[in-house]
Amino acid sequence: MTVQSALDELERYAKLNVRHSLHQYDKHGTLHSVAQQALRDDSDAVFAKPWVPWDFDIGNPYDHPVYQQFTEQQKLAWNHLEWAYNYEVVAAGERQIIVLNQYAVRQYRHILPSVVELEERESFEEVDHVAAFQTGLQAIYNRYLPGMNQHRSTTSPSGFRHQQANRLLRHLTGMAADKLLGKRFPTLFFLIRTIKTVSFKGMENSIAQFDQAPELIQRLSHLHRLDESRHQATALKLSKLSDAVLDKTSWESERLFKLAIHSAWPKNRMLESRLQHWRQILFGDTSRQNIFSSISLEDKQAFFTHISMNAQRNLLALHPRQVQITQQVTKRAVEEAGLSREFKQLFVEVLGADPIHRNLVEAVRL
Ligand SMILES: [Fe+2]
Ligand SMILES: [Fe+2]
Repeated sequence: MTVQSALDELERYAKLNVRHSLHQYDKHGTLHSVAQQALRDDSDAVFAKPWVPWDFDIGNPYDHPVYQQFTEQQKLAWNHLEWAYNYEVVAAGERQIIVLNQYAVRQYRHILPSVVELEERESFEEVDHVAAFQTGLQAIYNRYLPGMNQHRSTTSPSGFRHQQANRLLRHLTGMAADKLLGKRFPTLFFLIRTIKTVSFKGMENSIAQFDQAPELIQRLSHLHRLDESRHQATALKLSKLSDAVLDKTSWESERLFKLAIHSAWPKNRMLESRLQHWRQILFGDTSRQNIFSSISLEDKQAFFTHISMNAQRNLLALHPRQVQITQQVTKRAVEEAGLSREFKQLFVEVLGADPIHRNLVEAVRL
């Protein structure tokens, strides 16, 4: 592919996608407004139904006697809190993207401003998404865990461990990556973003199609997946073509490359952040009443041990709802990325060495 044809392709793509986004928002309004509507009207009715398919919880709580003695209300709360965990993870990823996007397309400013515009539009959408999920999260926490301030101690599933640190450091990360990785930065960033985006797609499709859920909760996931499909396609394209169109010389440092991958998929963090979520719910602020206050400490401990062991074991494989789509897109993304063969191999090697993330790259053939 010549530089000119890559530029033309990106230009066409960027303009078309901004139009699609505008059109979608005209038609459906913001995601935030859908979330507000879901939780404003008849909020009790929304909480009377499950929000996610029951198998989302990889801790297998259902076969434990403590869960079996839950009241109906506690069982539903557990389900809504599983929704909360999933969208905490999504929102944390999107907060990173909002900032890193700016840095990742910096090199396009003078080459192809329409790419910068597209990324600004996508960041605008992510800001809207985060506000929408925050509305849902707050409603859930207010209802079941009044007074508990989740955000102080949430373990971030990506980037740095603490959300607070992330807020500051993601700017530094963006600047440093731009300087050090050069044109490798957009290529690698958008490869990571493709895989991160697809990683939740199988789950989100399942919520959108989950008939037992309230209609507006399904709708929230449905509208979000429409945006994310566009984001995924953009990321794939930019990862593929950035190398061809950006001429900034880059320092091919293996060490930095590995560091970037490790910071996108920190070892064990998925398990840590999941357990932290449930630990806080079960053992958090005991001075306040919450939905699980009626359960004895001993029972909670036995139950928590059970879900921890199951989660740890089940994280070694992709969730059945994710396997096909994740492996398919990851395979394509790595194979098409504008990286040298050597760096693609390194990418697969680094993820392949991690027992939890190796399943992402299993299908890649180089
Ligand atoms: Fe999003
Ligand atoms: Fe996105």
